[in-house]
Amino acid sequence: MRNLGLLQVSALGYGCMGLSGIYGASDDAQGVRTLQGAADAGITFFDTADVYGDGHNEELLGRALGDRRQHLVIASKFGLKAQASATREVSGRPEYVRQAVHQSLRRLNMDYLDLYYLHRVDPQVPIEETVGAMAELVQQGLIRHIGLSEASAATIRRAAAVHPITALQSEWSLWSRDIEAEILPTCRELGIGIVPWSPLGRGFLTNQLELQPGDYRLTAPRFQGENYQKNLDRSARFSELASHWNCTPAPLALAWLLHQGPEIVPIPGTRSLERVQQNLGALQVELSSANLATLSDLFPPGSTAGERYPEHLMRTVNL
Ligand SMILES: NC(=O)c1ccc[n+]([C@@H]2O[C@H](COP(=O)([O-])OP(=O)(O)OC[C@H]3O[C@@H](n4cnc5c(N)ncnc54)[C@H](OP(=O)(O)O)[C@@H]3O)[C@@H](O)[C@H]2O)c1
Repeated sequence: MRNLGLLQVSALGYGCMGLSGIYGASDDAQGVRTLQGAADAGITFFDTADVYGDGHNEELLGRALGDRRQHLVIASKFGLKAQASATREVSGRPEYVRQAVHQSLRRLNMDYLDLYYLHRVDPQVPIEETVGAMAELVQQGLIRHIGLSEASAATIRRAAAVHPITALQSEWSLWSRDIEAEILPTCRELGIGIVPWSPLGRGFLTNQLELQPGDYRLTAPRFQGENYQKNLDRSARFSELASHWNCTPAPLALAWLLHQGPEIVPIPGTRSLERVQQNLGALQVELSSANLATLSDLFPPGSTAGERYPEHLMRTVNL
């Protein structure tokens, strides 16, 4: 177990997003089996969002795990609103906060959320207003803890001045190290837990990724053309290191994150229960400081070729 602020969770969580067809087809019966198997294996921390599958993901999670809800820590997010044009509008308006939480709870068929994140900071709404509205939800017992996702260090400070922030969820893995310079030290100073999303680099660090045409990941520059080829060259070296250390790439990537501090709880996602079990193997991987340095040197901050999002979405992070 680990602590995110005052919230105790399993040291490895489970990210549900891929169960709603984001990275290729998903099957609900298999999704239910994977979710229940993950909970049976000791995972208590499940991450969803209203926008994943436009509500489908929350419904599936509620259906699979509703009967053991009191033993679990359920996190969801709001703030990315689906548009008819398949784009996303960001909203942190207080009236939207109040509306969104009820919709999420209805889909999950639950009375409260343990952790509720603002998915993206709304540049049109002062963070104090958004977090102020979330604090009212805490008072009403609809949510227990407040989180932010992809917020900048300055926004995190302003938010924490309104209400304690339990966790920051931002992309962090060996090939996405942007948060290390400023955001991570700020969270540590303020006692905020870290939930790295896409801790396997959206699957890149598993060395088993086969991208099919139409895969969402192909919209990101780092998964395209020459960039991707350059990145693959390094992932081959990463796999060699993993086998040299009697490990496989996915648990090694997760173990590197787990070794960065006790307040870090990665949430890898997979449709397969077998892979959930493989990923839990990360908790047994012990890395010496020399091993950690070797991995860090292989993927220094800023060295991944290509941004993690297309340009219009890069404008929605680190706000
Ligand atoms: N806050 C945000 O803005 C944000 C953004 C993105 C994601 N998230 C959260 O973070 C969670 C995890 O991120 P993610 O799903 O994008 O990426 P991830 O966990 O880094 O990687 C998922 C990919 O890795 C594959 N995979 C997982 N374990 C594997 C293993 N042991 N061996 C081989 N392949 C493996 C999965 O494929 P299979 O399904 O085929 O196994 C999937 O393609 C999401 O579910 C979501 O909850 C949050």
